[in-house]
Amino acid sequence: MLLVFGSINLDLSFRCQRLPQPGETLLCEQLLVSPGGKGANQAHAAQRYGVDTQLVGAVGDDAFAEPSLQSLRDSGVGLGALQRLPGATGLASIGVDARGENQILVAPGVNLALRHDAVSDALLCRCDALLLQGETDARQNLLLLERAHRLGVKTLLNNAPAQDLSPRLLQALDVLVVNAHELQRSAASCGITGGGPMDWLAELADRHALTVLLTLGEEGVAARCAGRMLRLPAHAVPVLDTTGAGDTFAGVFAAASCEGRDLREALSRAVVAAALACTRPGAQRAQPTREEVDRELALYAPR
Ligand code: RIB
Repeated sequence: MLLVFGSINLDLSFRCQRLPQPGETLLCEQLLVSPGGKGANQAHAAQRYGVDTQLVGAVGDDAFAEPSLQSLRDSGVGLGALQRLPGATGLASIGVDARGENQILVAPGVNLALRHDAVSDALLCRCDALLLQGETDARQNLLLLERAHRLGVKTLLNNAPAQDLSPRLLQALDVLVVNAHELQRSAASCGITGGGPMDWLAELADRHALTVLLTLGEEGVAARCAGRMLRLPAHAVPVLDTTGAGDTFAGVFAAASCEGRDLREALSRAVVAAALACTRPGAQRAQPTREEVDRELALYAPR
């Protein structure tokens, strides 16, 4: 079982030819209101991929709470430890341009009030892996990672949006997932600044005995594990909307790891799932099923 601790948002996605400049107002072609939030997206991706997944997150006491949970419920994500807290449900404003690129503003609301003790030790002991992101409070993430590590649970952090990585956190972490911006910030917070992205990736991984996964969009993914570098290309698809592609990658990678897949296999499945998620609009509603991933995997070059 995969346990995801993280944010739940309602996404307002505005589709337009191009993204606005500072001070500019644009009229958009389409509005999509759909469930999002990096924690919820990652849990949803893992469950759609076919691995039993629990999400511990928080919604507020407003009208956005129920719509933000709809896809999680429909897909069967476990919500037994969901917190309903006084305050606002997380809300994201997302601009998506004609190339599928996006720009996101998040009002986190009660996501920042989520506490590590919403996860019981009993629940932690039942899971094969714990996956977190950067849209919840950094201290709560740290405390939960430490508890999971003490209990022998595999820990993964998608450091998005990027938070500083402390020595304590790195001690409790097994796998770090970042994009290029997040890698730079993550490495800098550990005092690693010289050279370029591949140097930061190697140094961060080797110095802290981590597996580090770097998502590179159209250039695929790079991974560093136990002193070795692995590169996989992207899976070429017609791109409509990249929102949540990184979440699909992280959720499916974690799910495939829970199934016992090795690094290359888990990465291939995550790359293919993330590509498929870019072919449809929205975050959770774009994520592929296990059957779709298996079918598309047969067409993916590295196999
Ligand atoms: O990664 C995409 C997600 O970022 C969106 O669903 C939005 O809610 C923000 O959390």
